[in-house]
Amino acid sequence: TWTPEAFVGMTVSQLKERIGEDKVVLGLSGGVDSSVAAVLLHKAIGTNLYCIFVNNGLLRKGEFESVLDQYKHMGLNVKGVDASARFLDALAGLSDPEEKRKAIGNAFIEVFDDEAHLIEDVKYLAQGTIYPDVIESVSVNGGPSATIKSHHNVGGLPDFMKLEVVEPLRMLFKDEVRRVGAELEISTEILGRHPFPGPGLAIRILGDVTAEKVRILQEVDAIFINGLKEWMLYDKVWQAGAILLPVSSVGVMGDERTYEKVVALRAVESTDGMTADWVNLPYDFLQKTSNTIINRVKGVNRVVYDISSKPPATIEWE
Ligand code: XMP
Repeated sequence: TWTPEAFVGMTVSQLKERIGEDKVVLGLSGGVDSSVAAVLLHKAIGTNLYCIFVNNGLLRKGEFESVLDQYKHMGLNVKGVDASARFLDALAGLSDPEEKRKAIGNAFIEVFDDEAHLIEDVKYLAQGTIYPDVIESVSVNGGPSATIKSHHNVGGLPDFMKLEVVEPLRMLFKDEVRRVGAELEISTEILGRHPFPGPGLAIRILGDVTAEKVRILQEVDAIFINGLKEWMLYDKVWQAGAILLPVSSVGVMGDERTYEKVVALRAVESTDGMTADWVNLPYDFLQKTSNTIINRVKGVNRVVYDISSKPPATIEWE
């Protein structure tokens, strides 16, 4: 029978044997899979594993700093690269969802390639690909593994892609990855995180993306997610987030009429993201969250809750 202990022992010795004294580069995303792959490799080859964590400026509020800090505490040899401006530039003027994804994927490749070039004599590219990614390529552009897929259509390969690929998790399902992560003593904060799309908040800002919209959505999202944690609802939900709609609606504040943005909140239950049901969050929680958002986030005067299941509605709105 499969056990996490046996998997870790066997994989670490195989990685040692295969990689020897060579160098490996890995793109960390903050998610479960890349984090577990990194710790596994770190156990096998130590500081010859070079991790790169790119801030695309589309992460949750404060996430780049806090996750980078956690990685450093885990002993990983990790470099944080703040490329927010580059991603925002790449997105400027784009409102089509697929064009936005492509722009983000390409910007990621450029940044990652530049960074990989700074490491001398790298031989391998490690990725946190898991079994479901192998059997069916769902719509996952934006992460390291998926950008590689989309880039095949673009023409010349970036140099880092000429590296030999190492994918220690490619035979595992998500729950097995979490068990391996627990065996490796990765914090529950990282292991229990909700899935988050590679293109980040860019696909939760419907239409064109600006720095101001990112800031508004980060504030709204942080109130929602922190609220879920405070109310002990976070672990009962498979994925949650906020969406900034390209709609303004009328409101009143004091005796003034306002005309401001609408945000939607979405929380779903799912096992694999292929199907999903909206979560019946307590009315008290929704009421409190809505009030807090409207009182605290300038530019938002209305909050709605998405009560659509997948199919036919997807989890993301773009
Ligand atoms: P949908 O919206 O298709 O999402 O129901 C299913 C799951 O996939 C995530 N998702 C993405 N992840 N790049 C990613 O890395 C993407 O472009 C992307 N689009 C959707 C979504 O967050 C959900 O977990």
